[in-house]
Amino acid sequence: MREVDLRSDTVTLPTAEMLEAMRSARLGDDVYGEDPTVNRLEELAAKKMGKEAALLTTSGTQANLVSVLSQTKRGEEVILEAEAHMYYYEAGAFSAFGGLIPRLVKGQRGVISPKDIESSLRPPNIHFPPTSLVCIENTHNRAGGTIWTPSQTKAVFDLAHERTLKVHMDGARIFNAAVAQGIEPTQLTRFVDSMMFCLSKGLSAPIGSVAVGNREFIVNARRYRKMLGGGMRQAGVIAAAGIIAIEKMVDRLKEDHSNAKILAKGLASIQGISVDPDQVQTNIVIYDVSGLGTTGERWISKLNEAGVKAGGMEGNRIRMVTHRGIEKADIEYSLNAADNAAKELRAK
Ligand SMILES: Cc1ncc(COP(=O)(O)O)c(C=O)c1O
Repeated sequence: MREVDLRSDTVTLPTAEMLEAMRSARLGDDVYGEDPTVNRLEELAAKKMGKEAALLTTSGTQANLVSVLSQTKRGEEVILEAEAHMYYYEAGAFSAFGGLIPRLVKGQRGVISPKDIESSLRPPNIHFPPTSLVCIENTHNRAGGTIWTPSQTKAVFDLAHERTLKVHMDGARIFNAAVAQGIEPTQLTRFVDSMMFCLSKGLSAPIGSVAVGNREFIVNARRYRKMLGGGMRQAGVIAAAGIIAIEKMVDRLKEDHSNAKILAKGLASIQGISVDPDQVQTNIVIYDVSGLGTTGERWISKLNEAGVKAGGMEGNRIRMVTHRGIEKADIEYSLNAADNAAKELRAK
């Protein structure tokens, strides 16, 4: 039986070239700043994102956390979109470790506007925690891989700076956002103070993310990474794969986007499944199976019987993510499995 794992782009395995680069990487002790491969990755990442400096971290969660800690003080408030990954899926890290209070703002398909931010800001008053940071997410995971445009990013940045707030971007999939818009990531990152991106998702590296910003920010982030136990020694083993991720794995994200479109169109044609293919902008497809009179959990187990893996969300919503290793034939196979599962459920 064919196996098609559409749960996440995090399931991608390193390429043969990455494994070879890891084997032959020049190494040193990165806590002393002496790993040449880590230094090369951090320089490359900073340049790609148009910022002064970068820091390799163990994960996207750690990169977001050190970024937030570096730009806030305990007791302050952080504005996030209501469905933000940083709020939803990072175990409450910034509240637990940073003593920070999330202020949630409902966006449109993951995008918040200056007006949304403005209306959530409160005047200085002894009763209120001071607000210091706005976090945005591009692409937005729970909204279905939706993109922020440069002008949407700039609008939030301008308002935030007018109000002396910093902006951090969770750009776990920033390259998906850039490729989908046919632009360079710098057209998005120029409107944030700090950002992070993942090497380990669609770019296929096995481990690692990178926090990016100005030199002072990175000095602080490096100290917080150390405090969190993320000071790694011969981390060039990880960085070697990361360099290939950045240099060679970006252009192919287009294939993932086109496969996601095909998947969404196919799902939309199945009676009882609700999804709008026009809303699929990158590699994430979120759809609803309530119309089949089933639960998300039951739907996932039906697909599993056919070797297709999907992720569940609340309210009978299902998430499927395309990535390297998923070919058009896998999409066709998955659609066939979905069609069969839907027929069985409708017949009951
Ligand atoms: C938008 C977004 N931000 C951050 C992360 C966290 O990355 P990690 O799993 O490497 O901690 C993820 C992971 O799925 C993500 O989708």
